[in-house]
Amino acid sequence: MKIVIAQDSHVPGIIEVWEEFALFHEDIDPRYPMVDNVRSGYKEHLREMMAAEDTLVFVALNEGNVVGYSIAQIRKSSPAFQREKYGFIEEMAVKADYRRRGIGAQMLGKIMDWFKSRNIDMIELDVTVANQVGYPFWKKHGFKDYLHRLYLKT
Ligand SMILES: CC(C)(COP(=O)(O)OP(=O)(O)OC[C@H]1O[C@@H](n2cnc3c(N)ncnc32)[C@H](O)[C@@H]1OP(=O)(O)O)[C@@H](O)C(=O)NCCC(=O)NCCS
Repeated sequence: MKIVIAQDSHVPGIIEVWEEFALFHEDIDPRYPMVDNVRSGYKEHLREMMAAEDTLVFVALNEGNVVGYSIAQIRKSSPAFQREKYGFIEEMAVKADYRRRGIGAQMLGKIMDWFKSRNIDMIELDVTVANQVGYPFWKKHGFKDYLHRLYLKT
């Protein structure tokens, strides 16, 4: 298993993992209804992320095939805060068949190394309340709850 910075040739593989990730969220929370073709639009978003400054996309490769990916960013804090910037893990997913083999931990290690090299000491991410797979992963790595995001469907 290798964790490397994503290249153009990895885009189709990332989209495949993304599709599984998107459908997983649609299943666990009715707030995520998907369009019929979940791939549409994502490719463009992904390419923007790969090209963006202060954004790093990693892929986990098994015999050259993408089995996981992550998108991490360095974001600016509101001017009121002493800490000028913080790290944000935008997405992380590993194909269901490859989970619980340490791939997520390995990818997180790479992200943390990158944040450390950029003097980032605060890392945030969003996790869906109903996500019984992702939430235990973040807790296992020391992440703590600090925010409730509320929604109202009218
Ligand atoms: C979260 C995720 C990226 C972790 O990847 P991974 O390769 O399985 O991670 P690791 O093997 O390093 O870590 C395994 C840990 O993840 C959690 N986990 C993974 N699969 C799980 C499952 N099916 N049920 C419960 N916890 C699970 C557990 O904390 C597990 O530790 P344990 O085996 O000691 O209980 C992966 O499970 C995934 O893609 N989940 C779906 C998408 C998602 O939730 N992404 C995060 C969005 S915020």
